[in-house]
Parts: sequence; C-alpha cells; structure tokens
Amino acid sequence: MPASDPVLEPSRKGDPCIIVIFGASGDLTKRKLIPALYNLAKEKLLPDNFAVVGYARREIGTEKFRERMRADTAEYAGSQLDPEVWNWLESRLYYQRGDLQTAGDFADLSKTLAELEDRHKTGGNVLFYLATAPDLFGPVVRGLEGLGLTSESDKRWRRAIVEKPFGHDLASARDLNRELRKSLDEKQIYRIDHYLGKETVQNLLVFRFSNGIFEPIWNRRYVDHVQITVAETLGVEGRGGYYDHSGALRDMVPNHIFQLISLVAMEPPISFEADAVRDEQAKVLRALSPMTPEQVLQNTVRGQYGAGTSAGRQLSPYRAEANVNPQSNTETFVAMKLDIDNWRWKGVPFYLRVGKALPKRVSEITVTFRKPPFSLFRHTPIDNLEPNQLVINVQPDEGIKLTFGAKRPGPTMSIGPVGMRFSYEDYFGRAPATGYERLLYDALLGDQTLFQRADMVEWGWTVVSPVQDVWHALTARDFPNYSAGTWGPKAAHELLARDGRAWRKLD
Ligand code: BG6
Repeated sequence: MPASDPVLEPSRKGDPCIIVIFGASGDLTKRKLIPALYNLAKEKLLPDNFAVVGYARREIGTEKFRERMRADTAEYAGSQLDPEVWNWLESRLYYQRGDLQTAGDFADLSKTLAELEDRHKTGGNVLFYLATAPDLFGPVVRGLEGLGLTSESDKRWRRAIVEKPFGHDLASARDLNRELRKSLDEKQIYRIDHYLGKETVQNLLVFRFSNGIFEPIWNRRYVDHVQITVAETLGVEGRGGYYDHSGALRDMVPNHIFQLISLVAMEPPISFEADAVRDEQAKVLRALSPMTPEQVLQNTVRGQYGAGTSAGRQLSPYRAEANVNPQSNTETFVAMKLDIDNWRWKGVPFYLRVGKALPKRVSEITVTFRKPPFSLFRHTPIDNLEPNQLVINVQPDEGIKLTFGAKRPGPTMSIGPVGMRFSYEDYFGRAPATGYERLLYDALLGDQTLFQRADMVEWGWTVVSPVQDVWHALTARDFPNYSAGTWGPKAAHELLARDGRAWRKLD
C-alpha cells in the first residue's frame, strides 16, 4: 500500500510543514487557497505543526493579511465561518512583503522560514505555491535554489506547486520543464490542474475501476463515440489581457480537457500509485494523433462571440471587451474531433467543445453506445431507436445518468427514452468545497497522482501545437461567428453532422 494514499488512510493528517504562497495578493489566494486550507482545517486534515506565509509585493503586514483572509474565507469557503477553526488557522497565517526577483527579499524569506520552523516545529518541510505570472515560475524556483531552499534531505521535503498556464506551446512547455528541473527533481514538482480537484472528475477513476459492469463495454466494440462539453455563460470578465493572448484552445484544451479525455480513455492502472495512474494517462495522450494541416482544417472549428444574451445577461462582442484587440483573431470557442490511436479506441471519435458566452454553464462527458444491431419492434426502424448514453455531469449538477429505451405504457408498441440518474447531492449532500482541498491535501502528503507529470504536459502540447500553427497562419475571416448565448458557430454542428451525429442537447 502506498503510504501516502489518503483514500486508503482517510483520516491521515498532512505532514507538518510551512506553505509559502507566492502571489498572495491575487484572486486565487483569497478565493481558493486560504478557504481550501480552512476547509481542510475543519476536517482536521491539517497538521498542528503548520504555518502559511503569504508572499507578495504589497506592504500589508501579517495583521492586515489575517483580517483580509478572514473576510475572504467567510465569503468563499462555502459555509459559515467556525470561529474556533478560523482562529486555529489564523494563528498560523503570516505575511511577508517581497519581490519575486530580488535576491535580498528571498534572503528575508529564508530567515522567516527558519523562524517559523522553529516556532511551529514544522520539521523543515516547505511547500512553495507558485500562484504568480507564468514567466516568473522559472526565476522564482531559481531564486529559491540559490538560497538552498529547494534541497531536500532524509528529514525534510521541499515541494513546489506550479499553476497554469504551463507554457504556451510545445517549445515553451519543454523549456519550462527543463528550467524547473535544473532546481527541482520531478518528484518535487506538482503541476496543478484544478479540474482534477473536482469530485466528479476524481470519481471517473472510481466509477470505471471499482465497478464490474462498465469496463467490459468501455471500448470500440460497444462505444460509438464520446463527447466532452465544457460550456461557460460568462465572457472574459476582465481577463481580456490574458485571454486575448491565450484563447480557448490554450486556456482549456491541453490541460483541463485532456485530463478528462485521459481519465475516460485510459487503461486500468496496475495500482493507484501516482506513476502507475499517470503512466496510463500519458499513454492516452501519446495515442492522440497530432493532426496534419489538412486534418486541422477538417476536424477543428474555432469561434468568437459577437453581441448577444447569455443566461439573461447582455454581453458585448468579445472584440469590445477591455484589453482585447478590436480586430482580435482570438477564439473563444473550440470544437474538435480527435482520434485515439490505440487498440481500445481506434475508430471511436472523441468530440470536444469548449466555449465562453454559451447558453448554459455545464461541463459533461457523454459516452454514446452503439445501437442494437437490428430492431425487433414493428414500426420502430432502427434509425429511430435512441442510442444508450452514459452522461457524466462534471458541473454544476454533479452526477451520472444512463439513458435507455422503455416501452411507453399503452396498447401499442412505442419506445420512449428514459433515464436512471445518480445525483451527488442526493446521496452525499453538498460538502462546502473550493475544489482545491484535495489537491492541497495531496501535496502535503506527497501524493502526485492528481498532478500532471512533465511528459503529460508535453504530449498535450504536441497535439495542440499543430492546431495553433494552422490557426495562427490563417486569419479567421468570419469572426465573430456566433452570437453570445448560442451553442457556437454552425461549423461546430456540421463537424458532427458530417459523421451522422449530433451534439447532445443541453438546453
Ligand atoms: C480556467 C480558465 O483554467 O478554468 C478559465 O483559465 C475558465 O478561462 C476556468 O473559466 C473554468 O473553470 P471551472 O472550474 O469554472 O470550470
């Protein structure tokens, strides 16, 4: 049994340590990280010998930082603040002013760490959380190494969580991996993807590999195709500066979407040990065949929203958003058909679509099974039989639904589609969570299963880069090509219609 598997040891506390958050004045810290630590404290999963240092440029001091974090946690933790739990955490929260590229400031941090280690008896373990601009990941890690802060010994560990985006293409992702590995060993690097913090995404592994009835039909013989939709109703919401350089493809596909594909398509791992799981995920990513330029033109669709109404809100065109180029060629919608070239999935298309300003916020994976070979029922031609579908709702209504045909009551034979549904909330209630609890907890335990390994990131970019190249070379002449509040450009529907298929209706 891997000593670090929290599934097998549900109540084990994280190791004694200090967490240093670089970029502590940002949104992530206040909305996710500190509230997630609070939720972990509430579950008694944090060690007593524990401290958190928020590190950022502003001069705010520990008292003010604590005050702000209290207010933010009350807002974002998902439940009313329990004063006892908060006080426990607050007494371990510190703030250190500093620049990320100034050696003197890092030297001060090093002194602070030594003091806190002594005060909280954290045993020398430190988790560095890089919630900074991506171009600072390398310099920060190098700065830490320069002060000896990344070196481990038998007695103490040093780990770094690296936020996304991890590179902006294959070459930059490789460079970043190389740069990080000059200062850190792969086992010290935790590349975070917040999709793996979602319960339903983690449940994919449990659903597939702890039940006997699905795996025998989880292959090309029984599955017709797989659809993945990640739809958002919001536009870019003040993130124009970042988004206009990124676009939907880079923002969502090589990371979140490929995590979902790899968990749906992977072979059973030999154990739940981190590298056993990640080996199988990496194999799926390697089997996603990179497209030729012709295939890119045929199998991918890009879109950009114009004005419209989504979820009751009037949205301006993407090109009118703050910090977006008024002639922007950046896509806010992507649809794609991907093939997985391996024994299990050959010939089973994986269709994905992701976009902003769509009609509904919903993320789901649908596995559509093949139709029965012929229809026994009079007047029910095989074309009219609905295929069975297994729908995994990732958010917002987490659950799983299986659809099948049933006889409509009455003297005549007619078939209607019906469904069996499992809803997380009905069975387990709604636990307050930010989605970062499990990931932070695993990092404290040294379990890398839910973090991306260097090769996984690089394989993801290998698939996405040829698409980027073609899109970059050819200006999208028809942008904007969908109105906010619709399901993307017409071409996204044609992508499936060409194969005699359609996107699952989500309205
Ligand atoms: C982020 C992207 O990684 O994921 C955002 O940068 C996107 O553009 C977000 O909105 C979606 O996350 P979630 O958890 O709301 O589905």
